[in-house]
Amino acid sequence: MKLAIVGATGAVGRALLEALEEREVAVEALRLLASERSLAADDLEVRGEARRVERLAEGAFTGLDVAIFATPAEVSKAWVPRARAEGCRVVDASSAFRVDPAVPLVAIDVNGTQVTPAERAVVAAPGATALHLATALAPLHAAAGLERVVVTALQCASGAGRRGVEQLEREAHALMNGVEPDLSTGGAIPHRLAFNLVPQVGAFGPSGYGEEELRVAAELKRLVGALELPVGVTVVRVPTFHGHAASVNVRTRRKLSAAGARELLRKAPGVKVLDEPGTGVYPMPMLAVADDAVHVGRLRDDLSQPDGLELYVAADNLRTGAASNLVRIAERLSGPRR
Ligand SMILES: NC(=O)c1ccc[n+]([C@@H]2O[C@H](COP(=O)([O-])OP(=O)(O)OC[C@H]3O[C@@H](n4cnc5c(N)ncnc54)[C@H](OP(=O)(O)O)[C@@H]3O)[C@@H](O)[C@H]2O)c1
Repeated sequence: MKLAIVGATGAVGRALLEALEEREVAVEALRLLASERSLAADDLEVRGEARRVERLAEGAFTGLDVAIFATPAEVSKAWVPRARAEGCRVVDASSAFRVDPAVPLVAIDVNGTQVTPAERAVVAAPGATALHLATALAPLHAAAGLERVVVTALQCASGAGRRGVEQLEREAHALMNGVEPDLSTGGAIPHRLAFNLVPQVGAFGPSGYGEEELRVAAELKRLVGALELPVGVTVVRVPTFHGHAASVNVRTRRKLSAAGARELLRKAPGVKVLDEPGTGVYPMPMLAVADDAVHVGRLRDDLSQPDGLELYVAADNLRTGAASNLVRIAERLSGPRR
């Protein structure tokens, strides 16, 4: 395929370059695009070769098959229509089109059949937490019918992009050297993250929920095809660099035991069950990072309610939660793999 990566210098953009290499995607032409801030920076390395980053500008998409946007939502909103006008199909990682009913929201292991090269010009990819949750919960929904979902999502620093990683690095370095970090310059995260937990991702609305909490709930419902499903979400930014996790409580319409759920999940696409708590085997970001699967464990019958289940999920936010999904959608959009 002839491909553009917009936002190639960002956290997801760099993970995309790794995913293309690892999946050995046949890329005939590759254009790396970012803002003019990146033009003075070092070249990016692709398959061992230094590649220049170009400025996102009119005409950048001419002659290409697919553009993957890994940019902030406002950039996607402005530039996706231009990419379309220049004849390019688009996969967008941002939240710009995720709730647009005319645009499919796709997590490839959950509803990948919605991607067809003929019909779909723009496909939105979910945020990492919603993708991880949907991959783990869709098989339970299909078997027993989800009735309610309550989630505490733990999102790492790289979930806030390159600036989130830089902020945690700076703060941890300062504190380990006995210096209070300087927060006056305004980081990607609104408080000190190092050795702290911050229960805010995005602005709070009148309901008291944060933007990311509402996004996770809305995207999860769309992905599992249950728009009326009651979903309550709390998101906490945690001081790890890579890998999200989530504590999940579900109630099902038909009884599903923890043992039954474990068996279903062992066969589910994109899921790896790590569930031997007695010997210390359970999901952790440390194990999930650089793996393509969503790790699920700590499965137990909920002692507080009949038909309730508790589970714990960990997965790589940049890879499983973004780059692998984006590349697999792009491959489908550009037709059968050559
Ligand atoms: N991080 C995650 O875990 C994750 C997971 C799933 C989805 N997403 C979504 O993916 C998107 C990218 O996230 P990220 O974490 O990779 O962010 P990031 O590290 O901040 O990277 C943003 C990228 O967008 C580029 N960009 C910003 N403004 C631009 C402009 N005006 N014109 C052209 N390029 C511009 C940046 O280029 P410069 O370097 O030139 O500024 C950079 O390459 C976001 O919408 C995010 O919500 C993120």
